[in-house]
Amino acid sequence: MMATKWGICSAGKISNDFVVALETLPAEDHRAIAVAARDLGRAKEFAKTFKIPKVYGSYEELAKDPDIDVVYVGAIHTVHRDVVLMFLENGKNVLCEKPLAMNITEVKEMTSAARKNNVFLMEAFWSRFFPVYEQIRSLLDQKVIGEVKVVRAEFGANLLGVPRAVEKELGGGAILDIGCYCIQFALMVFNGEKPESVTAKGFLYETGADETVTVILQYLGKRQAILTCTLVTALPNQAAICGTKGMIQIPSHIWSPTSIIVNGKETKYPVPPTTKALNFSNSTGLSYEAEHVRQCLLKGLKQSPIMSLAESELLASIMDEVHIQLGINYNRE
Ligand SMILES: NC(=O)c1ccc[n+]([C@@H]2O[C@H](COP(=O)([O-])OP(=O)(O)OC[C@H]3O[C@@H](n4cnc5c(N)ncnc54)[C@H](OP(=O)(O)O)[C@@H]3O)[C@@H](O)[C@H]2O)c1
Repeated sequence: MMATKWGICSAGKISNDFVVALETLPAEDHRAIAVAARDLGRAKEFAKTFKIPKVYGSYEELAKDPDIDVVYVGAIHTVHRDVVLMFLENGKNVLCEKPLAMNITEVKEMTSAARKNNVFLMEAFWSRFFPVYEQIRSLLDQKVIGEVKVVRAEFGANLLGVPRAVEKELGGGAILDIGCYCIQFALMVFNGEKPESVTAKGFLYETGADETVTVILQYLGKRQAILTCTLVTALPNQAAICGTKGMIQIPSHIWSPTSIIVNGKETKYPVPPTTKALNFSNSTGLSYEAEHVRQCLLKGLKQSPIMSLAESELLASIMDEVHIQLGINYNRE
């Protein structure tokens, strides 16, 4: 079997970490063969760091490269729609960073384009491929904690110094940047089910982006998810899934967990080691999603069974509803 040949779109922070993660995987399975950035100099610098053979000073050139099996889009979310549509129209499979786009209209354009062009598309919710998340899905399937009644999840960090996290025109806002992790967590636990209602309360930052938000997803059968995110302060960043027969807890980093507690018993799953510099904690865990994408492509799948296009659409529609309730609009037309 041949190595999956990755094209890297943009030379920013998460692209750095993604390529470091690829390097923790066997070279016969994964190779970054091209990188494109808006600025050729930055692309060259990135290529030099990782010994990537092909370098492009525009995303268009990457889209035209016939050797690429799949493009990883690590650009900021405001550009996801346009660049992903370009890759899909050029017949490229795409793994696109979260959130897939700014609103449900854009997400639907992208999922439709993937279907129309018969290519693979997945929103890069790397969390879902961590061993802890696999373990959660397996425990829920086996009904180890009975029927899930309450889910709690939180993601908070002081991101006020990160322009793309707070500036609305760069896609800033707590829900789009980090709250999406909490919502996708609840969606996974409730197996992609649509909530009966979405209720959001929160505050806006001085830029007009959402700063601190709590969302309640209410489900038929007296089930709830209570999700909190904030850009102003660290939270414990824990999660709990509470059922009629027990509890599953993630002690920290719900987005990249290395430990799970099931009815009081903890199991640890360290991420792969690296000596390379990372921008985000536990980023070598991006290797789990990269390997998942390789397996999907080897099977000829056009979407992931773990992070499906329908779930990306449901997630985007919930985020839109939260924004409406907070009085914010991320529509661009
Ligand atoms: N999975 C994770 O753990 C994780 C962690 C952090 C971020 N993310 C997601 O990854 C994406 C990028 O985040 P990041 O922290 O890596 O961001 P970043 O380093 O600030 O920017 C990433 C790239 O976006 C492009 N870009 C930046 N500003 C732009 C602008 N004003 N207009 C057009 N393009 C611009 C640049 O591409 P060029 O290099 O081509 O110039 C830049 O290198 C976001 O969607 C974010 O939500 C995911």
